[in-house]
Amino acid sequence: MILVTGGAGFIGSNFVLDWLDGTGEPLVNLDKLTYAGNPRTLERLAGDPRYTLVRGDIGDRTLVARLLAEHRPRAVVNFAAESHVDRSISGPDDFILTNVVGTFHLLEEVRRHHDQLAGDERDAFRFVHISTDEVYGSLGIDDPAFTERTQYAPNSPYSASKASSDHLVRAYHHTYGLPTLTSNCSNNYGPRQFPEKLVPLMIHNALAGKNLPVYGDGRNVRDWVFVGDHCDAIRAILAQGIPGETYNVGGNAERANIDVVHRICDLLAELAPGRDYRSLVTFVKDRPGHDRRYAIDGSKIAAELSWRPRESFESGLRKTVEWYLANQDWVASVTSGAYKNWISRNYSARSAA
Ligand code: NAD
Ligand code: DAU
Repeated sequence: MILVTGGAGFIGSNFVLDWLDGTGEPLVNLDKLTYAGNPRTLERLAGDPRYTLVRGDIGDRTLVARLLAEHRPRAVVNFAAESHVDRSISGPDDFILTNVVGTFHLLEEVRRHHDQLAGDERDAFRFVHISTDEVYGSLGIDDPAFTERTQYAPNSPYSASKASSDHLVRAYHHTYGLPTLTSNCSNNYGPRQFPEKLVPLMIHNALAGKNLPVYGDGRNVRDWVFVGDHCDAIRAILAQGIPGETYNVGGNAERANIDVVHRICDLLAELAPGRDYRSLVTFVKDRPGHDRRYAIDGSKIAAELSWRPRESFESGLRKTVEWYLANQDWVASVTSGAYKNWISRNYSARSAA
């Protein structure tokens, strides 16, 4: 079995569902269930004996040690993090606590666990750390894409906290021989993303007839990867990656924000007609320290692990808009106060199946 952290969030929940559908291998999900983690997203796994949800913090060493001793996972896949750049600007504390200190505590307990393993169990063990391309900083419009050798230059409290965690992961491999693997991935989009990030926020606001706030001149560029493709890359890294290595993951889909927003408007005009969605676009004050461009050179993972994204931006975005249109109740539940009440009713104890 494997232990996943942060599996109730956007990428983690897609990974958990794909994992159980595809491999059938049991999985324990350790998640703090912050505003971004929603057990309702994984409701269809209720009663599935292969799946266990434990509400808790990666920084709770007693809990992590107990889970490792009890379940003896063959791998830990660490998604748990504070992930939203804007929130890191207005309140960086939780980013340092979870992304830096939490990852450190998790690594310490995993190291202790790994030290006690022997033989095949020890050889097979892996720690996969899910990181971001934002650790590399910002590119100029004509700069070559990020490779695994690009120097780290994080610009936001979020990316600085992720960079710190990446360095700790690297050090635990180098110093203690912990078999770690790190992925540095570009912007994900797809089903089950909390409507604070660009793609789901624009869909959510457009359907409600609210303004679509585009920061600055809207010409900042991101490299978009469909979440299912990212999950596939993580499985490839876990299965075939070389311990100590890092792998860049991208979608070969650089787009300016304004073009992404216009494409969402056009898809909505086709799939949910009745409003001039493009007229809702509103240019607003820029994000402080806003990185201009990210782009991934994915040649290493393509050459070494034969992984390439399957979804084009056009096909993936259509699937995403269709999912949000069909799952408006999910959006309502994760954005409402009723969700928080439900959490405290159902998860007042630390651990729940
Ligand atoms: P998310 O914010 O949707 O989910 C994060 C999850 O972690 C939530 O379920 C939350 O409850 C949980 N969590 C937070 N603090 C925790 C703690 N202390 N202990 C246990 N659980 C905790 O994030 P996401 O977008 O799914 O991102 C997952 C990972 O992938 C993050 O590490 C992020 O840095 C990385 N990443 C994200 C993207 C992207 O575009 N979203 C791209 C590249 C890398
Ligand atoms: O590159 C990977 C990273 O992508 C991940 O590590 C982060 O967890 C994830 O949040 C994402 O970071 P970004 O800051 O790029 O994502 P966000 O969706 O917040 O913003 C995407 C772009 O859109 C960015 O240039 C800012 C802009 N934007 C965002 C929002 C929320 C707007 O113009 N308006 C908005 O309302």
